[in-house]
Amino acid sequence: MMVIERMWTEEFRPKTLDEVIGHDNIVSRLKEFARRGDIPHLLFAGPPGVGKTTCAEALINEIYGPGKAGRNVLRLNASDDRGINVIRNDIKTFASLLPDGDARFKVILLDEADMMTSDAQHALRQIMERYSQTTRFILICNYSSKIIDPIQSRCALFRFRSIPKELVIERLRTISKNKKLKISNEALDALYVVSEGDLRRAINTLQAAAALGGEITEDVIYSVRSQAKPQELASIIKLCISSKPSFSKARQLMRDVLMNYGLSGEDVVKQLNSTLVNMSEDEIPSLIRVAAISYLAEVDFRISEGCDPEIQLQGFLAHLILSSAKYRT
Ligand SMILES: Nc1ncnc2c1ncn2[C@@H]1O[C@H](COP(=O)(O)OP(=O)(O)O)[C@@H](O)[C@H]1O
Ligand SMILES: [Mg+2]
Repeated sequence: MMVIERMWTEEFRPKTLDEVIGHDNIVSRLKEFARRGDIPHLLFAGPPGVGKTTCAEALINEIYGPGKAGRNVLRLNASDDRGINVIRNDIKTFASLLPDGDARFKVILLDEADMMTSDAQHALRQIMERYSQTTRFILICNYSSKIIDPIQSRCALFRFRSIPKELVIERLRTISKNKKLKISNEALDALYVVSEGDLRRAINTLQAAAALGGEITEDVIYSVRSQAKPQELASIIKLCISSKPSFSKARQLMRDVLMNYGLSGEDVVKQLNSTLVNMSEDEIPSLIRVAAISYLAEVDFRISEGCDPEIQLQGFLAHLILSSAKYRT
């Protein structure tokens, strides 16, 4: 039986604000809100993997009691494939309900808020205004500049920055001890380097390195880092060529691969190519395979010429979906 291990990022996600590393000023202000039992609308902005979602969830825990938020919290992701209209309806419905139990207010946690179009943001702003008595928003984004001014001006803005190196390394050391890993100081340094301040990425890389067994050295870290798992790429391809393809899922998986392994567009193209070549006849019909390989060669060229890798890779997924639909008819 295959045992699927829990993600260490989740296992070691702080449950309270006190456990959050770095962000001292932010944490102390959030604790003050928790102590008062009330929050303004909040806008968390900053790079990935530094603790924005963690802080939001910890704050929610402290306001309602650990794990007790229940029906008073609605969690949404603005880049969700259900589309912003559905989200808008969910938000409206939820916002119009009274808080559950003796809670004073409800919370809507909206992740990737900067993925919303400005129309959607204007609609959101109206809801924020209308239901502000009973509903607080916590908006999370990478770039606050992509949030329309009227929303920004209604929120307390918290800018998250990368976590200092010493703290990242200390955290990785704690996790390594907990998991009884043999890891060198150089490997810990390498983890920091390859993750570029993104603690999610650093922990994922550590977990991937640990999965190999044996001592974790600098070399192990670099080798883990530059290679996505072939199954992951194969599953993206399969999603596109299935009879019920999902572009948004495939795109999300592709993003995850890029993020989790810190791969460049060119790396992914190379690895997609070898995955396509190595997939079995059962997994991919040969005409789709050659069409994909030929399009991928285009993508490779365009990326080398400076085209946006993410757009090119999305184009590849779209092309794969279209060509396999054509093949089927
Ligand atoms: N400041 C932090 N303190 C402790 N752990 C963190 C911190 N930031 C990130 N992590 C770790 O990285 C993972 C991802 O963090 P998350 O809060 O989801 O990042 P994001 O800023 O992208 O929302 C968490 O599950 C946790 O394990
Ligand atoms: Mg997050």
